[in-house]
Amino acid sequence: MIVTTSDLYKVAYKKFALGAYNINNLEQTNGLFAGCTQSKAPFIIQISKGARSYAHKKMLEAIIRTAEEIYPDSIFAVHLDHGDEASCYDCIDSGFYSSVMIDASHESFEENINITKRVVDRAHAAGVSVEAELGQLGGVEEDIKVDEKNACLTNPVEALEFIQKTGCDALAAAIGTSHGAYKFKGQQSLHFEVIEQIAKAVADAGLPPTPIVMHGSSSVPKEEVARINAAGGKLDPSACGVNLDEYLPAAKLGVTKINIDTDGRLVWTRVHREFFRDKPDQFDFRPPGKIFMKEYADFIASRNEKLGSAGKLDEVRESLSAAV
Ligand code: G3H
Ligand code: 13P
Ligand code: ZN
Repeated sequence: MIVTTSDLYKVAYKKFALGAYNINNLEQTNGLFAGCTQSKAPFIIQISKGARSYAHKKMLEAIIRTAEEIYPDSIFAVHLDHGDEASCYDCIDSGFYSSVMIDASHESFEENINITKRVVDRAHAAGVSVEAELGQLGGVEEDIKVDEKNACLTNPVEALEFIQKTGCDALAAAIGTSHGAYKFKGQQSLHFEVIEQIAKAVADAGLPPTPIVMHGSSSVPKEEVARINAAGGKLDPSACGVNLDEYLPAAKLGVTKINIDTDGRLVWTRVHREFFRDKPDQFDFRPPGKIFMKEYADFIASRNEKLGSAGKLDEVRESLSAAV
């Protein structure tokens, strides 16, 4: 069942985090729904601009609507990941999306506010909620490259002003992560103090809580990288990501949506590289596709455990029926 992102935030805020997983094709979608059904977890399905041009937005909508029928117990929201103004309006007008992300974080503070406010006005008129970004993550965001050295954490004072002036429903904050497989040099921790300061600033101002979104949340397992390289890959073995045991502590402070894409791509790459390395005489893509869907479902279920969303479907269902 497709629900609003706000419905999910209400149940999860400061208790657990919702996994927000990107999809581009039917194998990922099938694995995602299977994994969330087996772990009884609500979730957010994310579609990036890249995914919309790779698989066509109508194809993705049809795949998701079909998955909804095949997995009748699923409860999820549909979200545009890293949208610009045009793609946000397209998704708002489609009537299919629960929420959109307007990513104007590369603009000046004032311009980010102006753009975000325009999107919020149009989205709210259509019952769609809006995630906006403030601060810059290191690494690569869609087609915008931000020098890791200039990555700057979100300023909590600015965050409050931004939330007040835009009316955004969720804030993607820079708390020390970046997109992709190469996030950190050596072991690093999330900036929990920034999460706490933003939540406190919002509460002190008497505003309703604003869920914080963590982008760049993949853990980039060392073993996965090693297996990919053993099967012919050439990923930098120093690649490393977020400590999975930091998901839940971050959730308890207000990080309510945790975006995971890269880790799923690593599962896909490892399964397919190993399959064709071990069976060089084969060329049917369905056998590795089947393995991938099963492995991806298990991967999603294991991440939902770490996020605390596993087993929360009944709570969400009760909250939805109480609201009727
Ligand atoms: O943060 C970006 C997501 O990982 C989506 O990546 O733009 O390559 O689809 P993409
Ligand atoms: P990762 O690259 O860490 O998976 O982050 C994905 C993301 O933030 C999607 O918006
Ligand atoms: Zn992102």
